[in-house]
Amino acid sequence: MEFNEPAGENVFDHSKVVGRPTPRVDGPLKVSGRAPYAYERHDVAEGQLVGYPVVSTIAQGRITNMETEAALNAPGVVAIVTTLETGEMPIPSDMNVAPLFGGAEVAHYHQAIGVVVADTLEQARAAAALIKVDYDVTKGSYDLEAAWQEKREDRSDPVSRVGDFEAAFEAAEVTLDQEYRTPSQSHAMMEPHASIAAWKDGKLTVWTSNQMIEWTRQALATTLEMDPEDVRIDSPFIGGGFGSKLFLRADSVLAALGARKAGRPVKVMLPRPMVMNNTTHRASTIQRIRIGAQQDGKITAIAHEAISHTFPGGDGENAISQTQKFYAGENRLIVKHLAEMHLPEANAMRAPGEAAGLMALEIAMDEMAEKLGMDPAEFRAINDTQVDPEDPDKPFSERHFVECLNRGSEAFGWGDRNATPGQRRDGNWLIGHGMAGAYRGSPAQDSGARVRLQPDGRLIVETDMTDIGTGSYTIIAQTAAETMGLPLDMVEVRLGDSDFPVSAGSGGQWGAASSTAGTYAACLALRSEIAKKIGVNDTDSLTFKNAGVRTGEKQMTLASIASEGEIVAEYTMEFSDSRDEEIVSTFAAHFVEVGVHVATGEIRLRRMLAACDAGRILNPITARSQVIGGMVMGVGAAMMEDLAIDEGRGFFVTHDLANYEVPVHMDIPDQEVIFLDTLDPQSSPLKAKGVGELGLCGVAAAVANAVYNATGVRVRDYPVTLDKYLDQLPAV
Ligand code: MOS
Repeated sequence: MEFNEPAGENVFDHSKVVGRPTPRVDGPLKVSGRAPYAYERHDVAEGQLVGYPVVSTIAQGRITNMETEAALNAPGVVAIVTTLETGEMPIPSDMNVAPLFGGAEVAHYHQAIGVVVADTLEQARAAAALIKVDYDVTKGSYDLEAAWQEKREDRSDPVSRVGDFEAAFEAAEVTLDQEYRTPSQSHAMMEPHASIAAWKDGKLTVWTSNQMIEWTRQALATTLEMDPEDVRIDSPFIGGGFGSKLFLRADSVLAALGARKAGRPVKVMLPRPMVMNNTTHRASTIQRIRIGAQQDGKITAIAHEAISHTFPGGDGENAISQTQKFYAGENRLIVKHLAEMHLPEANAMRAPGEAAGLMALEIAMDEMAEKLGMDPAEFRAINDTQVDPEDPDKPFSERHFVECLNRGSEAFGWGDRNATPGQRRDGNWLIGHGMAGAYRGSPAQDSGARVRLQPDGRLIVETDMTDIGTGSYTIIAQTAAETMGLPLDMVEVRLGDSDFPVSAGSGGQWGAASSTAGTYAACLALRSEIAKKIGVNDTDSLTFKNAGVRTGEKQMTLASIASEGEIVAEYTMEFSDSRDEEIVSTFAAHFVEVGVHVATGEIRLRRMLAACDAGRILNPITARSQVIGGMVMGVGAAMMEDLAIDEGRGFFVTHDLANYEVPVHMDIPDQEVIFLDTLDPQSSPLKAKGVGELGLCGVAAAVANAVYNATGVRVRDYPVTLDKYLDQLPAV
């Protein structure tokens, strides 16, 4: 089934289930510990051994020797696989650039170079420590500032250029020219990467924790040089991913190699201190933004130039992407530079591009509004655009950013703030208010599902879609229930198994809109099967309702129709290029109140509010959870998160949760989320878009702007930690 024109009126416009605040259907399993995570799947394969990773302790160079004898003789050790014995292994180069395993070359710190398989974790870990590795060390490159100074004036290969930016900026009545810095960040999801691997008759099954089942099945087959048909991936429950589990990671490869050599199932978890340097991260950026405007606030010139680091051959962080679309302005310049460095692979992390880009752009907009003497929300509204600013013939499908600004302002009481910084006090706290706009694209991916109507009338939905804590189980169940006229508790959803039809997977905030579209397509196919079964030619003449189907005068239960055996239908929703004739994106406005201690400079969040425009909200409970989770992550980005680089040794020093700080409950105040009541027929049959990444976008800048409003000190170098402003606080 092809989605090749905007959705017309359909069952979701008269919904009884979709759009209702529905607690997640997997909630009881989660809170009672019965939703097993990858490392806990003790029942899937008998006789599991434990593999402990061996990782490089240099960032660049070559392994000359690995001494494994002492480890092999250690208690409980069954097998050891080293990177020297496997030789180089293929890299699935459409997704990744860093090797996961194999060969003598070390490309980054904590690259996996071996796995020790033993009866217990303690035995494997103790033996791994006995392996001696000799290296020839080479010096890598780790200096983003130096790379920026070299490339700062190079505009020879811009991402885009519209009009004459330089002339318009020169002529503008009010201008801003500033640089902003964002550090590398780690996904720091709750559940570390983990896999159990078992071989049988040359076929491999991996029970793991992964966002994109089909990508990973293909990648594992490529890496191990196998037929993808002989690889099965299963990942029904995932303790967070944020992009770190989009791809095959070393845990799966080590488990597969360890299991092959040991001749028994092997499970491998990446210990937390290995996660930051062994897996991917969001690259650090330096961003220069120039904005020129007329005195009335209209932007006439805007330039965003950014550099980020990348593993050689990679794509870095697309920090400029939102600036191509977000605000109006006739003269525009977008430049992206890459600095190849020998850090671990930089790749996607929640809202890749926009999250880091808006951290800069939305401070710049705040600074510009102040220069204009204009309210920052009003300044943004004045520069709203309903068409692509780079290509005015291309409209946005639905864009209600100004309504986000208005609704958010009103609910937050934005009008009461004092625009002059450093004026508000509450006891020992300086009070500040900040806001920011948010933009995030909302792509779609083809998504398939299989539905099985059971003889007892229940419906089983099977798709390799994943639920990374987002609520996929619930919205897919709601979609199937709605389309088939079933109560929610008669629908069972099974996810994350590569034996199921290939879905969109969880990434790029495309999961909800895409996977529900695939479920809808499969249910429509089932409706046709049911019509055939009861001898009706025109499926549209059937009404599916109350676990039954009605045609004219006749009414029968779905159970009675399937009484002789299950009825199965499978279908894929394919999103055609016509979806891209308009820009499908999501928008939000964030408002934040902070207190900054007058003496210590400590920041305390006091209130947060987001107003979001993301099409039909399929489930207000799970969507809200996505947004408030994103807001928490934005607080981390604003105030804490920093993968600090040791430029001598070439690795992230802050590689555990004691050093890489993320917000805890005590850091987070009341959060409010408003969803605009919008529909986007261009986006999907359900007229829905993504919210999972939108919730993060813009938040950090809103916090930074609030700190500025509280203190009068402008920090343009994230995270906003007190060493960067303490000496400039207003005199007590
Ligand atoms: Mo997302 S960064 O595509 O998980």
